[in-house]
Amino acid sequence: MSYRSVIVIGGGAAALSLAAAMPEDIQITLLTKSTTGRSNSMLAQGGIASFHQAGDSAAEHLTDTLAAGGGHNDVNVASGIIQDGRRMIEQLLEQRFPFDLDELGEPQLGREGGHHRNRIFHAGGDATGKMLVQHLEGLLGDNVRVMEQITVYELLLEQGRCTGVLASHEETGLFEMRADAVVIATGGCGSLFSRHTNDATVTGDGLMMAYEAGAELTDLEFIQFHPTLLVHDGVVYGLVSEAVRGEGGVIRDEDGRRIMNGRHEMGDLAPRDVVARAMHEEIRSGHSLHIDISGIQDFRGRFPTISGLCDAAGVDIREGCIPVAPGMHFLMGGIRVNEWGESTVPGLYAIGEAACTGLHGANRLASNSLLEALVMGNRAAGRIAQVVSARITGESGHSLPAPDRGGCYEVPRITLEELQRHMSKSVSIQRSGEELQALGRWLHEVQTDPIHVQKITKKQLELLHLWQLARLVAASALLREESRGAHYRTDFPVSDDAGWKGKQIIHSRNGIQ
Ligand code: SIN
Repeated sequence: MSYRSVIVIGGGAAALSLAAAMPEDIQITLLTKSTTGRSNSMLAQGGIASFHQAGDSAAEHLTDTLAAGGGHNDVNVASGIIQDGRRMIEQLLEQRFPFDLDELGEPQLGREGGHHRNRIFHAGGDATGKMLVQHLEGLLGDNVRVMEQITVYELLLEQGRCTGVLASHEETGLFEMRADAVVIATGGCGSLFSRHTNDATVTGDGLMMAYEAGAELTDLEFIQFHPTLLVHDGVVYGLVSEAVRGEGGVIRDEDGRRIMNGRHEMGDLAPRDVVARAMHEEIRSGHSLHIDISGIQDFRGRFPTISGLCDAAGVDIREGCIPVAPGMHFLMGGIRVNEWGESTVPGLYAIGEAACTGLHGANRLASNSLLEALVMGNRAAGRIAQVVSARITGESGHSLPAPDRGGCYEVPRITLEELQRHMSKSVSIQRSGEELQALGRWLHEVQTDPIHVQKITKKQLELLHLWQLARLVAASALLREESRGAHYRTDFPVSDDAGWKGKQIIHSRNGIQ
């Protein structure tokens, strides 16, 4: 019997939003290389941005999104996602998603960097992502099967169309699985850097598999560094949400000086790229920074997750100071898709952080990512259902053992820590042509060892994907000879609107455009 089926690689909010929205007559197989509890969505603290407050509007949310994005956003896409996002929030309210409410029973709206209004819906105080993932999991129908601990090696193509994956499970070995559509929802690439907020499983796999299958990747130079990671004695303990500054937290140095004074009209709540750059400069000049939380009432009640991180780090929140430093947080770029999540390869879709829709531009506005995950998961589900129903489909949804399949992968002879050190030095908050060239040489001179698909480990495959992606990121950062949003070149410190505004650097197997 033939039936319609879709493979989704990933298990975060975008993947689950798609799976929950897909009609029940389409079978969904969700493949995750770890467990569904491991994703960046699970770690998302701040919330979901959407206009709701009296006087706020889609137009104002759009204005803030475009201002944060440095004029690199796709205005139509951003406007559409913001409008649809409002509908997704309504749907969550109807489904009784447990948003935090005020004493009148209205959603309590937080504020984050770059927002001129309070428009951050949150849940569990600072556990919005985790609660959203759990909520979406509860909506899944019998048509959704979750397979954990699956390593996907390659996307399979037939006549230029993506029709499945080559994958393996530790115990049952290599298999091929066919489907009418394949969706990449594997997140970004936090592990490229030494200091980041991402789940350790987020290693750019989906991006590089899509690239190998012929898809276009774009905007890879735009990497967001979150200003405030809890870093104590050189160890990263996790994120300190921007919502902390939204509730009155301020960044100070060891002498109590407010470092954002005089730097931006929005002060501590300036867009993330501005605050992260200011902090980077202060730290380079020898200052140590903290968030002063002494003015926040009942910090533990409002921010239980962050309080737990402080406990783990041995930071006593009663003293009112959380030590912080910036770190990699989010990739604005990704697999180039249209407003339905369709990549440039037929049958291959991308959603969530793995995709580049154009919403975020050169610097994402806070809490627009869960919004995008919800909207794009939903939209892609609708599109796939439409396309798949119109196709004459073959056998799909089965997995067939493939013991004889596959060739070798050229695994780089470097360690993850070496790669992270080089990337953190040269493609960080500030970049220069000289450093990027040196990085490019190092990345290209790395020796490789051929390792057969039957022998390659998950860690080796992740390292390969990260190294391949690092080469593309470094090339993009070198090519863009201007500063815009999160991409700041010390040798080209201003935005060059005449030369670069609206231009995207696009990578594909055919080269760079
Ligand atoms: C935060 O809570 O500061 C992060 C939220 C986001 O990345 O949008």
